[in-house]
Amino acid sequence: MAVTRAAGEEVLLSLSDIRRDYVLGQARVEALRGVSLRIHRGEFVAVWGPSGSGKSSLMNILGLVDAPTSGEVSLEGVPVGKLSDNALSDLRSRKVGFVFQSFNLVPVLSALENVMVPLQIQGVGASEARARASQALQEVGLENQSSARPDKMSGGQRQRVAIARALVTAPSIVVADEPTANLDTENSYRVVELMRELNRSKRVTFIFTTHDPRLLDLVDRKLLLKDGLLQTDETVR
Ligand SMILES: Nc1ncnc2c1ncn2[C@@H]1O[C@H](COP(=O)(O)OP(=O)(O)O)[C@@H](O)[C@H]1O
Ligand SMILES: [Mg+2]
Repeated sequence: MAVTRAAGEEVLLSLSDIRRDYVLGQARVEALRGVSLRIHRGEFVAVWGPSGSGKSSLMNILGLVDAPTSGEVSLEGVPVGKLSDNALSDLRSRKVGFVFQSFNLVPVLSALENVMVPLQIQGVGASEARARASQALQEVGLENQSSARPDKMSGGQRQRVAIARALVTAPSIVVADEPTANLDTENSYRVVELMRELNRSKRVTFIFTTHDPRLLDLVDRKLLLKDGLLQTDETVR
């Protein structure tokens, strides 16, 4: 049993000297050039920086969907590089929720059914999945839209469905890569505010990327990434 501490003390994720190279024929792109970082349970963190700075590469590694070229990633003290593919995907499905720029909802499913998907992948029975998905939709303020299809919803509503889907499995961390890139200013702010509220009420750790500095007002900690290196790591409050 992990000891519960205040946000900012218990290390949830740790990256040690992470490099990520992409090889394209003869060319090699060094997307991450030695990033070391600790994310603590309960933190609300933004990674910002220009396009091409390595934000998505970093999110994919933090979310355990991609392996670094070198360096070590540990989640809750478990070095993930040594796990089998099965153990890794099991850990990812239990511990990590994802939110994407393009929402990635299934168009033929209702909002409720979309939120049920990760539970069904885990083998949770239909009635329990329905109840938990319904609760998650309520937490993002969409209880009245549960039977609506994504194409009938606004961008802001779709992203709230995606946030409910990320949270429904009660993950340790939600990783969101440019969650507001397809939203207007007001909806962008609202989505970050919603993540902030959920971070406080459910004590879920969030890390998201953005290239919009206005959204940084709401975070505890901002990491500036430039050319594959952490330039600054600022704790705000
Ligand atoms: N799958 C890939 N294959 C080759 N190069 C890639 C790939 N993904 C990203 N890159 C390159 O790595 C660098 C960092 O990209 P990325 O992590 O997507 O940054 P950001 O999300 O900040 O825009 C860029 O130069 C990009 O072109
Ligand atoms: Mg990106």
